[in-house]
Amino acid sequence: MTIFVTGGAGFIGSNFIFYWKRQHPEDRVVCLDSLTYAGNLSTLKDVLKQPGFRFVKADITDRKTVWQLFEEEKPEVVVNFAAETHVDRSIEQPEVFLDTNIKGTAVLMDACRFFGTGRFHQVSTDEVYGDLPLDRPDLFFTEETPIHTSSPYSSSKAAADLLALSYFRTYGLPVTISRCSNNYGPYQFPEKLIPLMIANALHDKPLPVYGTGANVRDWLYVEDHCKAIDLILQNGRLGEAYNIGGHNEMKNLDIVRLICRELKKPESLITYVADRKGHDMRYAIDPAKIHQELGWLPETKFADGIHQTIEWYLTHQEWWEEILSGDYQNYYNRMYGSRLANGGQL
Ligand code: NAD
Ligand code: TYD
Repeated sequence: MTIFVTGGAGFIGSNFIFYWKRQHPEDRVVCLDSLTYAGNLSTLKDVLKQPGFRFVKADITDRKTVWQLFEEEKPEVVVNFAAETHVDRSIEQPEVFLDTNIKGTAVLMDACRFFGTGRFHQVSTDEVYGDLPLDRPDLFFTEETPIHTSSPYSSSKAAADLLALSYFRTYGLPVTISRCSNNYGPYQFPEKLIPLMIANALHDKPLPVYGTGANVRDWLYVEDHCKAIDLILQNGRLGEAYNIGGHNEMKNLDIVRLICRELKKPESLITYVADRKGHDMRYAIDPAKIHQELGWLPETKFADGIHQTIEWYLTHQEWWEEILSGDYQNYYNRMYGSRLANGGQL
């Protein structure tokens, strides 16, 4: 069968392609990615020359190109990872989030309708549920939790989810949705918390913790996310959303401290900086539905996963150093320059 993986030159999409090539070597995998700042073709270098793999530089909002590719390849399955994904960037410049995350999803689903594609899977996020209070550890996001977003990023993802469900109801498009917690692992772009802290620590640069660092995220190793999507594609019920998370809640500050310990760097590098606007306090997933219906459970313990991830960044320094040396520097200076200029005072 032929599977389209959009956004496959990014963090989770590339890990999904590696996973899929290992688990389903007989399938043809076509990656569509427009190679924004977050997409990196070098990530895919090991699969680029493999038979049964094709990379196409394409924008999912470009209807004509998407149509052509569907016409040529006739995919049976489309998994949509392509998105603008960084909350801080969405606060700076929301518009591209609306284009890619909402319009791009609609274009892909229209193509699926037109060509009779057997499955459209939308990769979504737990951020569509908004946040939970820190003083109610008994509360978790279930699939019934109302959509209640905080950032332009999460709002654009929520819009895409609603659109996908409407395509299921109105047109009978065979849609599934997954809403995952924060991922970590190899090939994550160094603007996100864990790789940013690893890269800064290795350069003995300040570790910019937003606010007090008390915000909680539920961390999942990226391969466990890939396995969950595979199970949903095999046995998930159409028109349904599935939450994915591993009951692994951690405070941001504890993650940064752990990275300091692993890299033998002093905690004095930790610098408290101005908080993110609208900063969500706590994300926590109840994964009972995917566990009970599809038998999914996370397999990688956080202690092992974070250790492997740090090792990966240590042994793949050229991958992220190349990113840090390019355009990213402008973003970093814009985002953190004034936050750090006054010694990181809040
Ligand atoms: P990423 O930013 O690392 O990668 C996104 C990829 O999409 C990049 O390769 C980029 O070039 C590509 N892309 C962006 N706009 C495009 C367009 N218009 N056309 C084609 N390609 C385009 O993101 P990620 O962390 O790998 O996230 C992948 C998906 O998973 C996203 O949909 C995100 O919302 C979702 N998600 C991420 C997390 C997380 O913790 N990273 C958690 C839950 C859900
Ligand atoms: P991030 O990796 O951007 O993921 P998300 O906002 O989608 O959860 O951030 C994870 C948490 O880390 C979030 O609470 C914001 C915080 N954070 C910092 O404290 N400092 C940073 O430099 C970054 C990038 C994030």
